Amino acid sequence: MSNRALRPETIAAHALRAVDPATGAVVPPIYTSTTYARDEAYKPKLKENYVRNGNPTLWQAEEAIAALEQGVEAQLFASGMAAITTLTETIPQGAHVVAPDVMYYGTRDWLKRLERLGRISLTLFDSNDRDALARALRKSETDLVWIETPLNPTWDVIDIAAAAEAAHAAGAILAVDATATAAVTTRPLTLGADIVFHSATKYLNGHSDVLAGVLVTRDATARWNEVKTLRTKIGAPLPPLECFLLMRGLRTLFVRYRQASSNALAIARHFEHHPKVECVLYPGLASHPAHDVAAGQMTDGFGGMLSILVKGGFAEAQKLCVSLKVVVPATSLGGIESLAEHRKAVEGPTSPVPGNLVRFSIGIEHPDDLMADIAQALAAI
Ligand SMILES: Cc1ncc(COP(=O)(O)O)c(C=O)c1O
Repeated sequence: MSNRALRPETIAAHALRAVDPATGAVVPPIYTSTTYARDEAYKPKLKENYVRNGNPTLWQAEEAIAALEQGVEAQLFASGMAAITTLTETIPQGAHVVAPDVMYYGTRDWLKRLERLGRISLTLFDSNDRDALARALRKSETDLVWIETPLNPTWDVIDIAAAAEAAHAAGAILAVDATATAAVTTRPLTLGADIVFHSATKYLNGHSDVLAGVLVTRDATARWNEVKTLRTKIGAPLPPLECFLLMRGLRTLFVRYRQASSNALAIARHFEHHPKVECVLYPGLASHPAHDVAAGQMTDGFGGMLSILVKGGFAEAQKLCVSLKVVVPATSLGGIESLAEHRKAVEGPTSPVPGNLVRFSIGIEHPDDLMADIAQALAAI
């Protein structure tokens, strides 16, 4: 039975299903070979015969993720940033790009670099203003609209269907960084996006031990073929061992994501009115400004990412991070263990992120232990 006919939970759980008819192994072999022999007629046995062009372990991981996202094809890269930079290589010289002002700072810095070099013109729109994206578009000039939702680290939510409609009306494509929704709670391609991106380093792998990125396309366009060619030329595919680990992580994606979502909602509600807390930013809270949009497009939980704005500033936020004993003060997100990070310190003085913001990636621990830990750290401020 094709993967595509199954429900997403089953696709994920069977991501490492046997592919080896010779042995019937339930966990398939990892194809570590960099090269593949030709047959007697000097024909390659596989559609590719060199590891950088593709290999069976890579294809298996890509098929699982493409099926989860309901796209026609996926391409796995050696990191999230490798996927993003490969996609931006397909932007025509001088074309216009639109993106939110608050988003993963690595992507914003990369787009600003392309602007500085004269490769693109760039409009960063106000992510708090629901009409700002549509105003930023330039008909027949905008080539790419890049959004992230929820936005890292304020967890504002952008309406994907509305963004797709606006982008298409201007003649642009819409790419969505869906790292935080993890192919569980939102499927951007079904809402009109053209390309969905994940830092697979995060939820898709889920164990803080693999660096990976993925692009999935809704249609097999000429631009998508360029992405595929560029990945080979640049030399950026995910190596086989990492593909295997990623598939192992993928098998538990739904149980991990749902537990993280339920923990995060409990924590957000618990600390929303805490005397040392200015506010909790979590799209699952009714008080969140984009809760209505989130409730419409996040159909299986609001995820494990939340931020706490502490009363005070830079110093109080850092004090909270270093006072945590169960939650680890570390960067990254989407792993089984909870992490906390003072984003302003990481992103630097030009970052629009407030100095009193602490970002939490909530894991799958018992929520009572996490709440007790955050309470004692807040008391230490
Ligand atoms: C939302 C988001 N997009 C993209 C990236 C970049 O991915 P990677 O670190 O896998 O290169 C990250 C990494 O933190 C991220 O959080």
